[in-house]
Amino acid sequence: MPPIDPQVLALTELVGDPYVDWDHFDSQAYFNHNYGDLRIDDRRIIEIVSDFFQRAFPANKSGRAIDVGSGANLYPALTMLPYASGVTLFERAFTNREWLENEIAGPRKSWKLFWDAISAGRPAYANISNPWDLLHRRAEVVEGNVFSLAPDQYDMGTMFFVAESITARMDKFEQATRRFIGSLKAGAPFAAAFMRDSSGYIVGDQRFPACSVSEADVRRVLAPVARMLEIETVESNDLRDGYCGMMVATGRKKK
Ligand SMILES: C[S@@+](CC[C@H](N)C(=O)[O-])C[C@H]1O[C@@H](n2cnc3c(N)ncnc32)[C@H](O)[C@@H]1O
Repeated sequence: MPPIDPQVLALTELVGDPYVDWDHFDSQAYFNHNYGDLRIDDRRIIEIVSDFFQRAFPANKSGRAIDVGSGANLYPALTMLPYASGVTLFERAFTNREWLENEIAGPRKSWKLFWDAISAGRPAYANISNPWDLLHRRAEVVEGNVFSLAPDQYDMGTMFFVAESITARMDKFEQATRRFIGSLKAGAPFAAAFMRDSSGYIVGDQRFPACSVSEADVRRVLAPVARMLEIETVESNDLRDGYCGMMVATGRKKK
């Protein structure tokens, strides 16, 4: 086997997989496939995460929130809206940042289905009369790389389908997950979603890598840095081939 170019190795350490062309991620195709309608799996994730944040945050308390690797998904940010004085939509791909800027200025119709599911029966959310205006005022799209997130910055955070869906390497999955938790302040509540046993995925005409992870992997990585950790498996099998459900972890960063 030829030796690995040290420059490529250094780049891999920094960004995960240097061969993935994130800047041409087809945001519209990803949105259409995943969030053009509200699926049963996302409805269950919404229940888990919105209930958790409502329990975790005392009324009238707010802080800085981050959603890491937002892609073409607004619902993690929406679950943090009542508690966020500002929401950072932290995204590496140029196309996704552009898509997010447009979307928070004029969200597509399907997000109403997501907001209805989030706010139904949850007063902290239902009290918001115009979530779209609030999101537009509070959300900021920021260019960034999960592997360079600064520590101890945010009061709450979400990261959905990122750590296991940006690399095929277990050590990079672990590093991305720990960096996400590291970016939160001690005690900050978080929710993270992961594809279970994924073998990669296609968006538009591009193939993306994935790291096949189980509940045990998620627990092994999060247990040392999180307390009150709960991991729930959500049934899902018809989004595409090559995965076995979804997992949602909630908890607080250890002090
Ligand atoms: C599978 S998508 C998930 C998108 C969205 N969070 C969702 O729930 O559908 C993975 C996202 O991670 C972003 N991403 C890839 N590498 C990243 C990195 N190093 N740092 C931050 N985000 C990254 C991609 O651009 C993409 O938006």
